[in-house]
Amino acid sequence: MLRPHLSQDRLISALSGRTVDPPPIWLMRQAGRYLPEYREVRAKAGSFLGLCLNPELAAEVTLQPLRRFDLDAAIVFSDILMVPYALGQKVEFVEGEGPKLEPVRSAEGLARLDRAAAEARFAPVYETLRLVVTELPSGVPVIGFCGAPWTVATYMVEGAGSKDQAQARLWAYRDAASFQSLIDLLVETSVAYLLGQVKAGARVLQIFDSWAGSLPENEFARWCSTPTRSIVAGVKAEAPDVPIIGFPRGAGAQAETYARETGIDAIGCDTSMPLSFMRETLQARLPVQGNLDPLLLLAGGEPMEARVTTILNTLGGAPFVFNLGHGILPDTPPEHVARLVELVKGKA
Ligand code: CP3
Repeated sequence: MLRPHLSQDRLISALSGRTVDPPPIWLMRQAGRYLPEYREVRAKAGSFLGLCLNPELAAEVTLQPLRRFDLDAAIVFSDILMVPYALGQKVEFVEGEGPKLEPVRSAEGLARLDRAAAEARFAPVYETLRLVVTELPSGVPVIGFCGAPWTVATYMVEGAGSKDQAQARLWAYRDAASFQSLIDLLVETSVAYLLGQVKAGARVLQIFDSWAGSLPENEFARWCSTPTRSIVAGVKAEAPDVPIIGFPRGAGAQAETYARETGIDAIGCDTSMPLSFMRETLQARLPVQGNLDPLLLLAGGEPMEARVTTILNTLGGAPFVFNLGHGILPDTPPEHVARLVELVKGKA
């Protein structure tokens, strides 16, 4: 059993443009290796993909952080690479190395992807959501998510994580028309996937564009903002009341046009985003989320506490969701997370 929460739907209130005091808090990668109980379930599942595809175990790890901490949302346990997996690309997570995919780099590679097979492969994620919803108190929504087409494409084309996303950028520069077909396929699949998550109980959505920061402005508009706008429009056509958070990591000053052009309801900001820019340029237009440095959470102590206070003082007076600027790091002591949540909730 999870703790009953006193106030209802704090996250959805903030995402709808209300100032919530204290602000709601959830953390990217809140389920994961920093929790011993996660590592135990992960070992039982064998592979990471096996865990994502096992609804009982995935629901269990989704709920683990909420048993420990007074968080305002759960996020379904899955991965952004579920979409390439569902399209039939070979996806593996190699221990200590991260994801490995059979790279798609040509029209022939693209032609092998199978959109028709995707829905059946998404089914375990939908089942995880259904299980999670039955366990959550009513004021705590579960967040569904997908990767943005650009970020997912970088993994599909590179076949792994990379420091500069060079293969995807080169394809986009050399043959924009065929790269566009990959992006279009990802838009279409992501709309169906997000709507499937909503039908299964997700009440908030987040689109992770982790590599938005690797593109210059024309390409940013074409490969980040425009496909994201298409996804938002496709989801809103069927589910107009589900708030969508966009997270264009590394976008810098381009976050402003992204916020204006995509139709997202709230913007997630990475650690490098100045709080003054978040407040004056972004929060003036829409709710903001972020952006504590995950390394500061790992370090803990006075420097973390001081920064949390600064963030709350700068952004807490308008619609705001407390979060990190990127995912929790595996070496983070869980006690630091407990302390962070207390601080934000004013129970310090
Ligand atoms: O936030 C949550 O708690 C929900 C689960 C979630 C995971 N990945 C679980 C995961 C979410 C929302 C993601 C998103 C994701 N996955 C992103 C976007 C956010 C970001 O971090 O930029 C990206 C780029 C990926 C792709 C991915 N998945 C990589 C590069 C890796 C390897 C790096 C690593 O941390 O191991 C993963 C694996 C992964 N996804 C793990 C978890 C808990 C670790 C795997 C394990 O437990 O063995």
